[in-house]
Amino acid sequence: MRILVLGASGLLGGAVHRATAPGVQVVGLTRAGCDVTSAHQVARAIERHGADVVVNAAALADNATCNADPARAMAVNVGAARTVARAAQRQGTTLVHVSGNIVFTATEAPVGRREFEPADNHHGGILAQAKAEAEQAVLDDCTRVLLIRTACLFGTRPGGAWGGLPGRVRRAVTAGETLRMVNNSFTSAAYAPDVADALLTLLRHGQRGIFHLVNEGSTTPYTLTHRLRELTGAHPAQIEETFAEHTEYRLLADDKTTAAGAPMRGLEDALRAWLREDQHARP
Ligand SMILES: NC(=O)c1ccc[n+]([C@@H]2O[C@H](COP(=O)([O-])OP(=O)(O)OC[C@H]3O[C@@H](n4cnc5c(N)ncnc54)[C@H](OP(=O)(O)O)[C@@H]3O)[C@@H](O)[C@H]2O)c1
Repeated sequence: MRILVLGASGLLGGAVHRATAPGVQVVGLTRAGCDVTSAHQVARAIERHGADVVVNAAALADNATCNADPARAMAVNVGAARTVARAAQRQGTTLVHVSGNIVFTATEAPVGRREFEPADNHHGGILAQAKAEAEQAVLDDCTRVLLIRTACLFGTRPGGAWGGLPGRVRRAVTAGETLRMVNNSFTSAAYAPDVADALLTLLRHGQRGIFHLVNEGSTTPYTLTHRLRELTGAHPAQIEETFAEHTEYRLLADDKTTAAGAPMRGLEDALRAWLREDQHARP
């Protein structure tokens, strides 16, 4: 199986690019190699690499960036998602589309949202709206889709920088800033290489449809930051505990992923594994 990863310089794209499995060859392209907003470049990349599967890990994945430039956020997160889906459909390629827990409204009961539940967050910020619309677009335009939802990714980006929330923590540590982290917003979380491994397993098992790929357990931004500080011994600036007006739950149920033979380890194990594997772990 030949897998083409678009957005390979990102946290998740890089992890999928580095992942290995028997019978699987992975090729990765960064934005310089394939801009996902260009239908021509996407079609050419799929054809040139003879891809059986195209993983679209390209996105504007950060709330602040999306709020600062909503038009670009929609173009990359929705328009380009549709472009990749249409190219995959035309070229007989399986599409892996990456989405997240942000597609669900966050104020409901603390049960995990299920894989069969459609996105419903059209009233959140730009990123939430874009990710919800993108899910619908790729499911409408491509018949061979593995749609994965993940949450609060952490890990090391290609090049060595920390990605996700730990990246934010590390930048604050370096700058000596006080971190204000919410402690009543409960979320699933995932180590990017664990997501990549589970994704390859699902593909090798021929799975299609919606799957939730997260490490077992839940956390809050405050708890995760605090734990990170304990594990790395980093001595940052203060971490200030804050509370959102309403308690939020962004938990993903992953029973279907486990039943499909791709169980993911617990969050604490994943955090420890990451810090062991990251040779630059200590700020
Ligand atoms: N991070 C999280 O906590 C989280 C949680 C849930 C779901 N997700 C989803 O997971 C996916 C990957 O997120 P991530 O955290 O890995 O994001 P990331 O590290 O920011 O990576 C996104 C990648 O997309 C690339 N990109 C942006 N515009 C592009 C374009 N026009 N053409 C080609 N590549 C482009 C970026 O390249 P440049 O740097 O060159 O622009 C970057 O390498 C996204 O769909 C995101 O919504 C993430």
